[in-house]
Amino acid sequence: MRIIRTIAEVRDAVREAKRQQKTVGLVPTMGAFHAGHLSLMQEARKRTDLVVVSLFVNPAQFGPNEDLSRYPRDEARDAAMAEEQHVDILFAPEPAEVYPDGFATTIHIAGITDVLDGASRGAHHFDGVATVVAKLFGIVAPDVAYFGQKDAQQVLVVRRLVRDLNIDVRIEAVPTVREPDGLAMSSRNIYLDPAARQQAAALNRALEAADAMVEAGERRAAVIEDAARRILDDAGISAEYLELRDADTLQPVTTLTGDGLLAVAAYVGAARLIDNRLLRVSA
Ligand code: PAF
Repeated sequence: MRIIRTIAEVRDAVREAKRQQKTVGLVPTMGAFHAGHLSLMQEARKRTDLVVVSLFVNPAQFGPNEDLSRYPRDEARDAAMAEEQHVDILFAPEPAEVYPDGFATTIHIAGITDVLDGASRGAHHFDGVATVVAKLFGIVAPDVAYFGQKDAQQVLVVRRLVRDLNIDVRIEAVPTVREPDGLAMSSRNIYLDPAARQQAAALNRALEAADAMVEAGERRAAVIEDAARRILDDAGISAEYLELRDADTLQPVTTLTGDGLLAVAAYVGAARLIDNRLLRVSA
């Protein structure tokens, strides 16, 4: 595996692979790898010839009061883990390589970024994500890019980005990887102390309960949300949001007629965690 820091070198490597008719898979990450990242790498490894993993803690998507400075960083550990997954290139640029002096462009995607994490964290968050992902697509020119379904809203944002800007890349959403008690894998789980770690499992229990209600025929969004919220209350968790929305448009729903996305964000101890469940109504 090559560790590459410059855009020019990644471009050269990709150009050479494409000259040899190889397909290119990109896994965009901010590092602090866990089993969720590894499953993205495994998918890319199975389905594409040249696997590029980007490792860049993107300052643009963090707000002033968020965890940019304490976000976990351990490149040597990440590089060893990526190598074990037979990744070809770890693209780990410095911030100045990505945002050189005079950088002046921001991509804003209207509508779907106004709700859930966009409303909670502020517009800068998805603007920062869309901008850096567009840059990574411009740099790597992948045939396929892999994102985790845990960040369901991010997946929708990226799909909209490539559709609206006619970027020629297929977006694959890979299922969330969970701990044995259901907690979604996240780089931020390391902020959880043992008590908060136990509490955090309630997020998945709430989503599972909602799923079971829909399976049993419940379609009223408020009833489903209330039941999920009660499970969080019982665990002493107060959600920043817990909302059932249309799975494609993120518009609010009162009665589920198509697939819904139940999304939740909550501080559990020192960690801001997000999770979601696709509630399928269609067969
Ligand atoms: O999901 C993440 O880790 C980040 O939001 C991403 C897609 C790498 C952009 O910085």
